[in-house]
Amino acid sequence: MNSKRLTVFASGTGSNFKALHQAVLNHEIPACITALVCDNPEAGALQYARSHKIRTHLIIPSNFPDRQSYEKKLESVLVDEAPDLIILAGYLKKIPDRIVDIFPQRIINIHPALLPAYGGKGWYGLRVHRAVIDNRDKLSGCTIHFVSKIYDDGPIIAWATVPVYTGDTPESLAERVQQQEHILYPKVVQQLLTRNTTLTNKTDQPDHNDHDKKNYHDDNLNQSDHNNETDRDDQNDHNTKS
Ligand code: GRF
Repeated sequence: MNSKRLTVFASGTGSNFKALHQAVLNHEIPACITALVCDNPEAGALQYARSHKIRTHLIIPSNFPDRQSYEKKLESVLVDEAPDLIILAGYLKKIPDRIVDIFPQRIINIHPALLPAYGGKGWYGLRVHRAVIDNRDKLSGCTIHFVSKIYDDGPIIAWATVPVYTGDTPESLAERVQQQEHILYPKVVQQLLTRNTTLTNKTDQPDHNDHDKKNYHDDNLNQSDHNNETDRDDQNDHNTKS
């Protein structure tokens, strides 16, 4: 068994969780998913974990007498799991500050828009895609970032862009974005575990109205990727900050 440990957090369908798990099974990610933390007993992610014998921790804040005891439980679970990386995959609760302090730069999240636009408290799900369409943006996508104490605000690691078409509905755009999420998230996790992806500042964000995708296409991901066939073959607009 691989020694690197991943803990995934999810609240919903769990399609990103599944994509990550499949990448582990395919040996694309050199790690094992030791546990799923979930806050929703109805989550598809929970069913998937159970059926694949991944340990589950169903931790529902409202089941605790107060915030402090909930946070203590979460902390003790994570200290026991000892993850190298905590991966938020559609987890809707805010990660307590104390957990962010215990795992600095070891918690990552995926967001269904090109952050810093359409990010922050209340920006999730279809409302993000609806706003992108209402604003007539020509480009959307997903962003992977480190988790800080502020919603959707930590340092950005990677973006993948998709075009927004005339006639798109929030649902059709969500589907196109998710296809990219399922490619980008495993790739970024693999990179974070196998080499140091360094961060730059986040001012070079893709322009929502610029249709020239070449601007955002990173041919090499970073210089050390030159010999990586998977990266060279990538047809999508993935931009990993390096
Ligand atoms: C994804 O779109 C992700 O960007 C966001 O939540 C959604 C989770 O979807 N954070 P799924 O549960 O992985 O299908």
